[in-house]
Amino acid sequence: MQSFVLMIIMANVPTVAFSNGHKMPMLGLGTAKSKNKDAARAVKEAIDLGYRHIDTAFFYGNEKEIGEAIREKIEDGCVTREDLFITTKLWNNCHKEEHVVPACEKSLANLGLKYLDLYLVHWPFALKEGDNLIPQDKSGNLIESDVDYVETWRGMEECVHQGLTRSIGISNFNSEQISRLLESAKIAPVNNQIEVNINLNQEKLVDICKKRNITVTGYCPLGHPGNALGIENKLDSSVMLNIAKKHNKTPAQIALRYVFQKEVAPIPKSITKSRIKENIEIFDFTLTSDEMNAIRKLGTGERVVDFAKAKNFKYFPFNIPF
Ligand SMILES: NC(=O)c1ccc[n+]([C@@H]2O[C@H](COP(=O)([O-])OP(=O)(O)OC[C@H]3O[C@@H](n4cnc5c(N)ncnc54)[C@H](OP(=O)(O)O)[C@@H]3O)[C@@H](O)[C@H]2O)c1
Repeated sequence: MQSFVLMIIMANVPTVAFSNGHKMPMLGLGTAKSKNKDAARAVKEAIDLGYRHIDTAFFYGNEKEIGEAIREKIEDGCVTREDLFITTKLWNNCHKEEHVVPACEKSLANLGLKYLDLYLVHWPFALKEGDNLIPQDKSGNLIESDVDYVETWRGMEECVHQGLTRSIGISNFNSEQISRLLESAKIAPVNNQIEVNINLNQEKLVDICKKRNITVTGYCPLGHPGNALGIENKLDSSVMLNIAKKHNKTPAQIALRYVFQKEVAPIPKSITKSRIKENIEIFDFTLTSDEMNAIRKLGTGERVVDFAKAKNFKYFPFNIPF
């Protein structure tokens, strides 16, 4: 009975087809800053609630816990590996071509998986190679590595050739970097994971990605409430509260639905069971075009994730508007 109910919930999460034919659920669980037992519990609760798409990264330091949670849900018969869509990301200190396959293998070992569904280049710029994930000089400045993401991509393609991942993609790449990558790529990126929320709708970049057959995943889809940059979160603005009231939904659900209706897959992070449930219940209503426009007007274009410490790096993505 339980699995029947879960199948019905699952059916409500639409999928998007990649250019290579593989499919990605249009809503995933974000896991940045989900640590230890909380990360594992959140993943298990999310799978029970119908999530099939889990987003992690080597940098988050939680691949092992997430892998254990996945293994538990497969062993208890709730899901099969094939039901799930697992994304992780290559960190910036492993951008040299020869470092990419070993980094992917390390993530697979952490997760306890034989293959990934999607492996992303986390950022277009590289950091100094070595064990330190955030290498800094004595003055606290980040240390850049001059590896070109075009070189990194050859390593990503090798991950596909070796069957380590079904699909490869990029994250935080701007329009110029996408064009340049496509000029030499033998395997096209199927996805660009970028920040998308009511403050930063990324319409131009999303449009460019669509034209290039690249699907878009939206990170910080709730605008990361309580973000360290102090960017005003518009979830409790009167516009959001009024639309939420009309649909008998919460402002967070309206924000996620807004991202989804932009044809972007939101990956809200939560370790709170009630919110994990709330965040998947966005497929039973539709925002009108007037409501979409009213939310669009709230946008200021400010980023929650700006990685400003890397702003002088050669391949820093945010020095052009999109
Ligand atoms: N590719 C990249 O460079 C990149 C960068 C940033 C993020 N990401 C990915 O995107 C995911 C999402 O981004 P994010 O975690 O930065 O921000 P987010 O999903 O916009 O916001 C997460 C925050 O919102 C809270 N929250 C969750 N559901 C809520 C709800 N229904 N109502 C009110 N508050 C709610 C969470 O608290 P609780 O957990 O306490 O419930 C958490 O503090 C990450 O976890 C990560 O997987 C990728």
